[in-house]
Amino acid sequence: KLPFAETFRIKTVEQIYQSTREERERWIEQADYNLFNLKSSQVFIDLLTDSGTGSMSDKQWGEMMLGDESYAGSSSFEKLKETVQSITGYEHFLPTHQGRAAENVLFSALIKKGDIIPGNSHFDTTKGHIEFRDAKAIDCTIDEAFDIDNLHPFKGNIDLEKLEEVYKTYPKEKIPFCLITITCNSSGGQPVSMENIKAVRELSNKYGIRVLFDAARFAENAYFVKIREEGFADQSIKEIAKEAFSYGDGMTISAKKDGLVNMGGFIALREEELWRKAMSFCIMYEGYVTYGGMSGRDMGALAQGLKESTEFDYLKTRIGQVEYLGEKLKEYGIPIQKPVGGHAIFVDALAVLPNVPREHYVAQTLAIELYKEAGIRGVEIGTLLADRDPETRKDRFPKLELLRLAMPRRTYTQNHMDYIAVGLKNLYDRREEITTGYEISWEADILRHFTVKLKPV
Ligand code: F0G
Repeated sequence: KLPFAETFRIKTVEQIYQSTREERERWIEQADYNLFNLKSSQVFIDLLTDSGTGSMSDKQWGEMMLGDESYAGSSSFEKLKETVQSITGYEHFLPTHQGRAAENVLFSALIKKGDIIPGNSHFDTTKGHIEFRDAKAIDCTIDEAFDIDNLHPFKGNIDLEKLEEVYKTYPKEKIPFCLITITCNSSGGQPVSMENIKAVRELSNKYGIRVLFDAARFAENAYFVKIREEGFADQSIKEIAKEAFSYGDGMTISAKKDGLVNMGGFIALREEELWRKAMSFCIMYEGYVTYGGMSGRDMGALAQGLKESTEFDYLKTRIGQVEYLGEKLKEYGIPIQKPVGGHAIFVDALAVLPNVPREHYVAQTLAIELYKEAGIRGVEIGTLLADRDPETRKDRFPKLELLRLAMPRRTYTQNHMDYIAVGLKNLYDRREEITTGYEISWEADILRHFTVKLKPV
């Protein structure tokens, strides 16, 4: 057996600066202990997000030169529309500038005050766009997802009993759709099985409810279906993705993930009437319907990106890298979410820092420590991200406090993976010494984690 190796070679390089611990301690204090406030030049390995941070291929850069920047009827729009239709099977299409913009446009056409949106751990901007409309997101993810040692192969699955309970409790007029997020980012980049997607469709049909996808990482989801679910080993990623989409009525997507572009998103729908309704919001919020917030060249690069991200070899390298890092961390005994997700490693902060009180934002404390230790920037998926309860205004303590290390696509090498693993190990070895965390000195009303200011307790 031959070892893991990237199935690409590097054509352009970007210099990164390896700072000292003294520099990092100064910078993180100046950043109010919020890693979003750091300058990228102050970060050695940036694992803040896999969103829009990857490398484009030579073919995608080629598309940049072919972009048609016409305001209306751009040929780049046609190229992207045809690619989206062939990959998703959905006929109607609207480009937007990113994922949350697609949510804003579509939800404006779909969600009313008092509505209920069940799904599998809605992403934070998605939940934000639901709650902003005085509607409610109900998490129906299977319980196994919240036990980080449970080796369930599809921890993004929806619990059908929880979903049916929602369908029985509320009238169908109050449930504009059920949202399946593939892969499920908030529960750890975990996939949803084809069987589960199909079952959600059947149950929703019974109650007359629409099924939509938040498809940011749909290709990674298809990879896991191929590798882990019986009956899919011989199917191509494109076939698997298309079958999954066939059980839904439409989708929003942040193309900054599996679109392999730095900026972009779209809506694709089966229903013409809903598409027409969404169009007006697209024009108001994003731009005319044949560009919707994207340049022609970006639409061309996205069309090419969708073709590449649905290739098996690409996904094998992509997910193989995350798995390689996961194996290293397991060797060092560092508690992480298992099995590892597609786009990121999720470190169990409560287990790494058992002496830091829950009120001190444990996952954020771990993120700050890892930055100071090795110049690595991860992101808190914990109490800061969970925001306050809209009614009681109290901190919502989620089931898990996680530090997410999200891997940009086609960006870092295997040596970087080794470096990250040792950085975490050094910190893990002195975990008993870390006993205090941080408190909030300023926060915004909604999506506070982006701008929160903290100080050491
Ligand atoms: N849905 C999911 C599942 C996401 O992961 C994201 C973004 C969005 C929607 C919103 O898309 O950023 O293009 O507006 N996730 C990024 C992340 C930001 O870091 O996980 P966007």
